Amino acid sequence: MYLTQEERQMLSGERGRATRKAMEILAALGTIYEAERMVPVTSVQIAGVSFDNLGEAGLEFLSEMADGGGQARVLTTLNPAGMDIENWRALGIDPDFARDQERVIEAYARMGVVTTCSCTPYLFGNLPHFGEHIAWAESSAVCYANSVLGARTNREGGPSALAAALTGRTPAYGLHLDENRRPSLTVRVEAKLTDTRDFGALGVVVGRAIESRQVKAIPYLRGILTATVDQLKSFCASIATYGGLAMFHMEGITPESAQFAPPDETLVIEQADLDEAICSLDVFSSDDEVDFVSLGCPHLSIHEIQRIAELLQGKQVCKTFWITTSRPVKRIADQMGYTAVIEAAGATFAVDTCCVVAPIKGRFKALATDSAKACYYAGAKNGFETRFLPFDEVVEEALK
Ligand code: F3S
Repeated sequence: MYLTQEERQMLSGERGRATRKAMEILAALGTIYEAERMVPVTSVQIAGVSFDNLGEAGLEFLSEMADGGGQARVLTTLNPAGMDIENWRALGIDPDFARDQERVIEAYARMGVVTTCSCTPYLFGNLPHFGEHIAWAESSAVCYANSVLGARTNREGGPSALAAALTGRTPAYGLHLDENRRPSLTVRVEAKLTDTRDFGALGVVVGRAIESRQVKAIPYLRGILTATVDQLKSFCASIATYGGLAMFHMEGITPESAQFAPPDETLVIEQADLDEAICSLDVFSSDDEVDFVSLGCPHLSIHEIQRIAELLQGKQVCKTFWITTSRPVKRIADQMGYTAVIEAAGATFAVDTCCVVAPIKGRFKALATDSAKACYYAGAKNGFETRFLPFDEVVEEALK
């Protein structure tokens, strides 16, 4: 693998212990994936932030990198943590967990990482342009960056994303290369798509279909006339979860779709497929028992928060209702008066975190959400039953 003089200096330790370790990780990855060279990256997003996932071993690795002088060379933000960093007591987080989570955040901060914890960094300024090489880790954000923004990233692990931050490089393989971004399967959508729940369900159908094939395909979707940012982020989270996909093209909507003709092999998605996917995630035994309501997987945009405020105006929620978003978006909500309305209704902002990465196993029985990804992980990780509802109906569920 070709390395520039600067990259060789990083590898030899001339730029410090942590930079050497980082370049070793990237060179090993490059060798495994037969990359010919490194590419400079302009943006990094790191997953592996919740202490619930990292554990003591992960924290030790981060502390070593910080002690070794590691410093982020490009804009780097974090995925959600296990708690609201400023307001964890309001979420009922155990103080011992909070202390460990704060040590994780502190280690990242020492390395010059922006400790804004969110899976939608593109909503608050970590927004790469078309064609930029980046190194992101969160699966839904990776899919959004490649598909909707036209930036280029593989799905990084926590260590390789940190290594990219500390070196400003990533190995040039996979989705960094033109030839790996071509679609190979046309998906003709004949179902009606109305809201974020429907786009999530579409991601389930397409993801499952591709997951069952021997060779992974990049789908080229046709028949979708419009899609909002919120609908696309829902689709990205879902197709990444159910199909392990890091990229798709959507005719007339995503920027690289115009470069390709639709592939010959075609999958048709009908209304019945979508309805079946919705039923498969709506695994709930009794209408009275939803005890946890959460919106914001992926993290909410200001428009979604505005809608929640409209629906909650002058009302009172009867269940634990988490509104999960990033701190910068929450600050906008504060200034626009939405936070006051939502909190007066008894709902709780869970900033920096989400219903999947927070350590809440066993605290609730059944979750209501509009997110197919949350259904998957809340069931698998936290053992919750799930109600998979349209966005507005999730808010209504909190009011019952
Ligand atoms: Fe984001 Fe948590 Fe969902 S990280 S995509 S809100 S599982």
